[in-house]
Amino acid sequence: MTQPIINLTRGMPPPEVFPTEDLIECAEAVLRRDSDVLLQYGRSPGYVPLRQWLGQQYGVGPEQVLIGNSSMEIFAFITQTLLQPGDRAFIESPSYDRSITLLRRAGAQVVGIPLEEDGPDLTALEDELKQGAPVLIYVITDFHNPTGITTSLEKRRRLAALAEEYGFWIAEDAPYRALRYKGQDVPTLWSLAPERVLHMSSFSKVLAPGLRLGYVVGPAEMIATLAQWAVDTYIGPVFPTQGMVYEYCRRGLLEPNIERLKEVYRPRLQATFSALEKHLPQATWTRPEGGFYVGVTLPEGIEMVSLLARAGQAGLKLSDGRGFFPNSSNGDRFLRIPFCSVTPEEIAEGVSRLARIL
Ligand SMILES: Cc1ncc(COP(=O)(O)O)c(C=O)c1O
Repeated sequence: MTQPIINLTRGMPPPEVFPTEDLIECAEAVLRRDSDVLLQYGRSPGYVPLRQWLGQQYGVGPEQVLIGNSSMEIFAFITQTLLQPGDRAFIESPSYDRSITLLRRAGAQVVGIPLEEDGPDLTALEDELKQGAPVLIYVITDFHNPTGITTSLEKRRRLAALAEEYGFWIAEDAPYRALRYKGQDVPTLWSLAPERVLHMSSFSKVLAPGLRLGYVVGPAEMIATLAQWAVDTYIGPVFPTQGMVYEYCRRGLLEPNIERLKEVYRPRLQATFSALEKHLPQATWTRPEGGFYVGVTLPEGIEMVSLLARAGQAGLKLSDGRGFFPNSSNGDRFLRIPFCSVTPEEIAEGVSRLARIL
């Protein structure tokens, strides 16, 4: 009998956590109430009631909030409006592979800043700054993808100060921030330098990725620039899903949903730690307090190509760690374990298969 495949590649919520019935009700209610607006071309950067609601969460007006079809799309707009070919752009190494791609697509000269247990290596960052300030640095400050690392308050303060001193933008990508399973929140970079930070987030991880609903909070002039870019690209983002999500938030359903998700994901994170301790004592790994990922560094002598091939034969799907590094050879021993979309039993089995292969 062939064993079931265990997929440790996708950073997505499992379908059983989607609050489908509530979303159906919210969609119907909001369409009945506001179809004239929701079914028309939206000439504002987002459904105004949702921009207002989001603004309230951050203590700003709607002019400081832009909504788009996913935070990835917003980051694409940011790279297209801010970067000229050849401009320097910094990014943590490793980082979210799609963000590396978007920076490269905009023609940026992408510089990787090594990531330490408490955030980017600031000595390396300052050395790079001496060689030339970037137009922007992209950081995932909370429960980083792919490592799960959270940047310390001390490092956030220094990053904010450097952005002000050298005049670069910080794109702070925070889709996992609300999913903290233990410990205390750290203030956002945006709260430390609101004139220099574009704070992006999304409903993908706290509600459902298929909604394709992301947003950015930033200075009003920059939001206006992005809004014009969006109008010139597609007039306006999709509105009916925004209406649905607004209704969901207005009814006070988002917070309890996040609490429910934490109850599902917390034991999965714990199961990942237990499996690594039991089966892979020769490796090292990060100790996230939330989010979707644990980053594992495998022992010396591992070759990613043969590891992936052998994992495939053992019924284990893994992401190629090299894809997360601006300089891919740095990722030869790196694996991302996305623990949310698999059960604790699947995690244990997946890590035990990995140990057998190693
Ligand atoms: C750091 C980071 N940013 C953005 C995204 C994508 O968010 P969205 O679905 O809003 O495009 C992901 C998804 O994995 C992510 O890990």
